[in-house]
Amino acid sequence: MAVSSDRGMWSGRLGFILATAGSAVGLGNIWGFPTQVGQGGGAAFVLIYLVCVFLICVPIQICEFAIGRRGQRAPVGAFDAIRPGSRWWLVGGLGVITGVGILSFYVVVAGWTLAYIWFAAVGAAGDTPKAIESFFGRFAANAPLNLFLTIVTLAMTAAIILGGVRNGIERASRALMPLLFGLLVLLAIRAVTLPGAADGLAYYLKPDFSRLTNIRVFNAALGQAFFSLSLGMGTLITYGSYLSKRESIGSSALWIAALDTTIALLAGFVIFPAGFSIPGFDPSASGPGLIFQVLPRLFATLPGGQLFGATFFLLLFMAALTSAISLLEVPVAHLIDEHRWSRRKAVLTITAATALLAVPSALSNGAVGALTQLPGLGLDFLTLMSTIWNNFSLPIGGLLTAIFVGYIWRVEGALSELLAEHAWFPYPRLWGRIVRYVCPVAIVVIILFTIRALVS
Ligand code: TRP
Repeated sequence: MAVSSDRGMWSGRLGFILATAGSAVGLGNIWGFPTQVGQGGGAAFVLIYLVCVFLICVPIQICEFAIGRRGQRAPVGAFDAIRPGSRWWLVGGLGVITGVGILSFYVVVAGWTLAYIWFAAVGAAGDTPKAIESFFGRFAANAPLNLFLTIVTLAMTAAIILGGVRNGIERASRALMPLLFGLLVLLAIRAVTLPGAADGLAYYLKPDFSRLTNIRVFNAALGQAFFSLSLGMGTLITYGSYLSKRESIGSSALWIAALDTTIALLAGFVIFPAGFSIPGFDPSASGPGLIFQVLPRLFATLPGGQLFGATFFLLLFMAALTSAISLLEVPVAHLIDEHRWSRRKAVLTITAATALLAVPSALSNGAVGALTQLPGLGLDFLTLMSTIWNNFSLPIGGLLTAIFVGYIWRVEGALSELLAEHAWFPYPRLWGRIVRYVCPVAIVVIILFTIRALVS
């Protein structure tokens, strides 16, 4: 099957790295990571997270890029191109569904950051910790406002995707990432000089290994690592399919993982010192609202805090958009490549489906009681969504990807793609062993033990 003429190409290696980093860096780093560290008990979680990123995720990230570039298509078609007639395309199919699932709660949180641009600019949240906390509670419970913000965010994502690969995605990420990085550094410097910051740093950096008796912490770290790297659902297969043979996949992958992890770690250096400067702060108590309760307080301690805060939330929103784009791009590229839909029809259909699934998430932080405390589960719908998709669907997608490369396409097959045109690739044999043995075993063990803990 020929590749649809609606496909695009990256302008070069830098464009590829920046766009992929634009996909990776988003709410996962600045909202998800601190939230998960808070739920998972601090530094011990951080340590497991780092092991997951570099031992499990980077090797699978390389698999996805290789599959995409060899297959030259979106996930479903790419698996099918490498092993025609097999059922491996189903892994791509899981990714297409997961893309809609993740996007459906992602746009809700992105909508919160959109609102906080305005709230920060006018100082709407107040400046005492109590006021800021109750402000978030009231805001998140406002049903019409949350639905409006969610739809606006989703519509903006769709509009950018309609512009095509190069124009839409590359330009947006290229301009804004360095700015966001600079602001995070400034905020971290401010946060660690606040009174009480030392407690926050200890919480963040001194592991308490007695916390590690719970397998769900491992599962959360694994899920967060996949989520943050945009891994496990074929986003990187799709992005790899736009990559030219001349570029080295190995070094691109390492750059992207290092950048993504640096930004997540930086966000922790902002949130925890700033959080612990608030008397009585409990990082596990606020759930998905954590950063919206800590950051306004931090801005209130800064000269020109309103402008600073508004700029920060604006950049965070832009970072969220470049990630949301990459989530939407997977199902859209699938419909274009495999079903020969026009880009426009594909975008509108997937956007409408996502909007429907987003509604319960948008109403699950106080607006509707039954969605805020799901009967029998004791958690909110948005957290349920993020748990299903991040902690299970992505690692299972990654597991199947590793098995596909390790045992079906086989390491030599993948290496012929990775080493094409004499590309730089360190330790090819070690990589092959990790993909064949370490990744599958680690993921299966974590998932099975988590399921056992859930049912017992
Ligand atoms: N990685 C992004 C973030 O951290 C979210 C994201 C974009 C994503 N595309 C993805 C997550 C694909 C999983 C799969 O905000």
